[in-house]
Amino acid sequence: MYSKQSTYKNYDLYRMEKKDFDLVKGFLDESRLKLDRIEFFYPYKDNELAEVLDKGYFLGLFDKEKLIATFGIDFDEEYAKQIADVINGCNNIGIDKAYESSGLMVDADYRGQGIANFLMDEICAEAARRNINICGVVQICNTASMTTFFSHGFELRGVWSMGGKYDFGYLLKTPQSTNFQNLQKNSNLILQCPSKYDIIVDVEREVDNFDLSGQRKLLAENYYGIQCDKKRIFYIRDKERKL
Ligand SMILES: CC(C)(COP(=O)(O)OP(=O)(O)OC[C@H]1O[C@@H](n2cnc3c(N)ncnc32)[C@H](O)[C@@H]1OP(=O)(O)O)[C@@H](O)C(=O)NCCC(=O)NCCS
Repeated sequence: MYSKQSTYKNYDLYRMEKKDFDLVKGFLDESRLKLDRIEFFYPYKDNELAEVLDKGYFLGLFDKEKLIATFGIDFDEEYAKQIADVINGCNNIGIDKAYESSGLMVDADYRGQGIANFLMDEICAEAARRNINICGVVQICNTASMTTFFSHGFELRGVWSMGGKYDFGYLLKTPQSTNFQNLQKNSNLILQCPSKYDIIVDVEREVDNFDLSGQRKLLAENYYGIQCDKKRIFYIRDKERKL
């Protein structure tokens, strides 16, 4: 791993590299096997993990010697184009690339301490430095992960079903993303007053998380998701906004 990047609570953040492959793979495999819903973390193939460690921006958080959390950005250009195609096919916003922000995993013993939010801050800061679009490809019922993305200003701009248990939401953050403070304020209002949508001018509809075709329809009508709870994703349509 490279030199220490920063700290969070008593934990140390490092940028990981190719020679950390075994450590990262062991952590991800072991953590994934412990999940109640294993489909919430789609595993890397070995070559994909080696690539993201070698050429991507991949972070590891440590409690002393123990790896307790990971998150990164994959700079694979082809995949970035494929992600943009899925998004443009659903929401037609004309982006050319969106690099996947992948590998978000927090050890079960360390969840609920704000670690995912901390890692997300670091990843968003790196994307801003590079002036790139990033996109989380997240199982649509994975409320904890979806919330982490939404609360950092990511927008649900695409959906794609792989079949089986795998229904993915594409959560996009561009360098021009809507003012994050406003989004968070709106999101909080929605969650506090779920039946009083008229207090938020732009919020017009909600759709059940499992209703992929309903969500496709909304995305095609230029709505995009800005927040979720365990059952619903909340959409708005910003008619003024151009990407
Ligand atoms: C998703 C995950 C990374 C969250 O990590 P965490 O460190 O516990 O999250 P944080 O404490 O930083 O909380 C982040 C946000 O998610 C929310 N959240 C966390 N756990 C939640 C849960 N079980 N249900 C609903 N929301 C949850 C928090 O309230 C917080 O919201 P806010 O930003 O609006 O304040 C963790 O649960 C995990 O590793 N899950 C298994 C792997 C996985 O699903 N990875 C994502 C693949 S796309």
